[in-house]
Amino acid sequence: MTRTDLAPVAPTEPGAPVPPAAPLLLGIETSCDETAAAVVDGGGRVRSSVVSSQVDLHAAYGGVVPELAGRAHLSLLTPVVATALEQAGLPGASAAGAPVDAVAATVGPGLIGALLVGASQAKGLALAWDVPFVGVNHLEGHCFAALLDHRDLAWPLVVLLVSGGHSMILAMDGPGRYRLLGQTLDDAAGEAFDKVARFLGLGYPGGPAIERAAAGGDPGAFAFPRAMADSGLDLSFSGLKTAVVNAVRRHPDATDADVAASFQQAVVDVLVRKTMRAATGLPAAGVCLAGGVAANGPLRAAFAAACDGAGLPLYLPSRAMCTDNAAMVAAAGAWQLEHLGPSPLGTPADPGAGLPLDVAPAGRGAVASTRPVG
Ligand code: KG4
Ligand code: ZN
Repeated sequence: MTRTDLAPVAPTEPGAPVPPAAPLLLGIETSCDETAAAVVDGGGRVRSSVVSSQVDLHAAYGGVVPELAGRAHLSLLTPVVATALEQAGLPGASAAGAPVDAVAATVGPGLIGALLVGASQAKGLALAWDVPFVGVNHLEGHCFAALLDHRDLAWPLVVLLVSGGHSMILAMDGPGRYRLLGQTLDDAAGEAFDKVARFLGLGYPGGPAIERAAAGGDPGAFAFPRAMADSGLDLSFSGLKTAVVNAVRRHPDATDADVAASFQQAVVDVLVRKTMRAATGLPAAGVCLAGGVAANGPLRAAFAAACDGAGLPLYLPSRAMCTDNAAMVAAAGAWQLEHLGPSPLGTPADPGAGLPLDVAPAGRGAVASTRPVG
């Protein structure tokens, strides 16, 4: 890896000129193809957030190559952490002592080689600085993204969590308290975007490529299926992907724009319909979006209209906070540190970890957690 590979390192949302509130957390995220570090303070303010995307590295292969991702994290993480500390106005390792009060890192779910790089680095820094380590669940991190931008939330929220590997509708009864209302029975929404983009030859990552292609298309050109739209809260996207493939084979002259727009509309319709049904049924005090697919412009606009119509507040993380970043990991880590305590340094990376769901009405802080502790 050459120095030029460090060029994509870019700050997002530098901290406001307000003195940092304790505790200061360094967050590290390396679960997939973004190498990210961020500093978040006790007031929930993002002091720095640096994301180095590996998109160019994996684009040639049409998707993430796990071994390449792990190696890239290894070369990128140290400079990314240094940049995040620097942009937060903090010294690195120095005689002045630890620059932060704790170090949080994603420990799962994700690619094992990628997770190990971030988790090991975080444990090493925590040990060297003599501060607590906090192992964070990546899906829980996504749920904290909207909380960074919105302080005065009413509960419960219905959260639509749509990422590359997961699609879930959750009841969030408070920070750290989740109940599963529905989930995909096959492909995740992001996976459907990625597969359809690959089929159309639009490149990787698929979501932004589909959104760009769809901008000039007719969302009504193809009547793609809205699976199980009127029953239950579970989701299914594999039939939609097959319908796109069949339609393109039957209509070889169809434009990518029309196919992409019709596909995107089908995904948006079903996500809005199911999430709003969950929100009115609960009933929820608001709706929150999380995960990479929540960066999708038409999805955000459709939710704004639906929540407006239902009289429900909509909590949208910024687009940068929807896709993988370390500020959300630091925010989840701060909550966890305060309410559940630090994680043992022996906490393993768990590639298949699920979101820690409530096992009793009192919540995770009060009962044995579903979180695996090593
Ligand atoms: O949360 P995320 O960044 O990483 C995971 O935890 O998986 O989500 C990545 C997923 C990918 O499938 C990507 O195609 C999708 O989010 N995505 C989008 C958009 N930006 C990213 N999907 C639709 N529209 C977008 N603008
Ligand atoms: Zn993610």
